[in-house]
Formats: sequence, structure tokens, C-alpha cells
Amino acid sequence: MCKKYHIDESHGLKHAKGTLARAQNLLKGFDNVSFEEHSIALYAAALHDMCDSKYSDVSISSYEIKDWLLSEGWSNEHANAVISIITTMSYSKLKNANLPNIYPDHRIWQRAYHIARHSDLLEAYIVSRCKLYNEQIHPEKSEEEHWAVVKTLFDNRVFKYVKDGWIFFPHAITIAEELEKEAIRCFDNKSLDWPEPSLDYTDSIFAYE
Ligand SMILES: [Fe+2]
Repeated sequence: MCKKYHIDESHGLKHAKGTLARAQNLLKGFDNVSFEEHSIALYAAALHDMCDSKYSDVSISSYEIKDWLLSEGWSNEHANAVISIITTMSYSKLKNANLPNIYPDHRIWQRAYHIARHSDLLEAYIVSRCKLYNEQIHPEKSEEEHWAVVKTLFDNRVFKYVKDGWIFFPHAITIAEELEKEAIRCFDNKSLDWPEPSLDYTDSIFAYE
């Protein structure tokens, strides 16, 4: 789908793996997570940008994702839960709705929704990703201009995720604080470090492969 919809690396496979790895990490902080909740949170994390209005018609791409989940043996109900989560977790859509911290009701999948949403927000702390995306949409800008735009975006948005309540799971707040330090280091050194995500391949979602 990345190829089909021209999804660049800032929102491509590495980001999908990164979001999945962060969701795996966050899930370890919760008790009483059912197999279904675990799978829905992780699939939503991994697939969320495969139906992003920046790259595709959401109604078409969400249909394709649901079709794929059904072909993988998912029930209609659980596939719908993944689609509902990934079409309502975007920070910019929530922010533009002008109802800060008011989230859609996903009923028994609300925690899975917030795990996927938190995981994507944590990925936003990667300076390199943000710069890469800006280079795609503004190829005319200079290197210095890109760094300035990215820094402004982090100051006005990313570094406020915790303070403004968008990130509220305690474990995620701790991770965000670490990521903020790393982002500041990247700005100070003009570093484009973006470590390869470390997935937990012992996870049950990989078990049936
Ligand atoms: Fe994302």
C-alpha cells in the first residue's frame, strides 16, 4: 500500500514498525488485556497510516484494509474496530475538531484506541521523520528552512503533547520525556538519527506466521 499510495518513509514501513513497537511496549504496562484487545491495538498501530487522508482516499483505503483483515481470518466486528480506531486517531483531526481531549467512543476497544493513538504520538518525537515529511511537501525550501520549520512544529505541538493532555498514560509520559530529550539532542546537533524500531517478535501476533 505504501507503493500504491506513494507513502513516503516518514509515514511508511519504518514508522509502521515503530508505532507497532511502541504499542507492544505500552501494552506490557496493562493487566487484563484480552487476545482480541491486544491484536486490535497492535494492528491499529501498524496499519494506521495506510488510510491517512494525506495519502489516500480514506473510504477506499479503509475498505482495502478491512478486506485484507477479513482475508486474514478476522471477524467483521474486530476488523470494524480496527478501522474505526485508525480513522479517528489522527492528532490533527482531533485537534481541528476543536474539542481538546474529547475522543470518540470506541466502547470496549477504547483502551486499544488510546494505545494505538499514543503510539503514533510517541513516533512524532522523531525529528528525522518530521524533517523528511517537510522535505516531501516543501522541496523548494532550504536545509536551514526545514530545520526551522521542524523546530517550530516541535515547540508548538510535539513538546506540548504531555502538557496538553494528549499523552496521558503514565508509562507513555515517561517515554515521551525521554524522547523529548533525544529530540532536543537532535536539534542541538542537527542529527537525523532514527534508530531501527525493535519489535518484539515473541508477541502473539507473530505466532501464527
Ligand atoms: Fe502515523
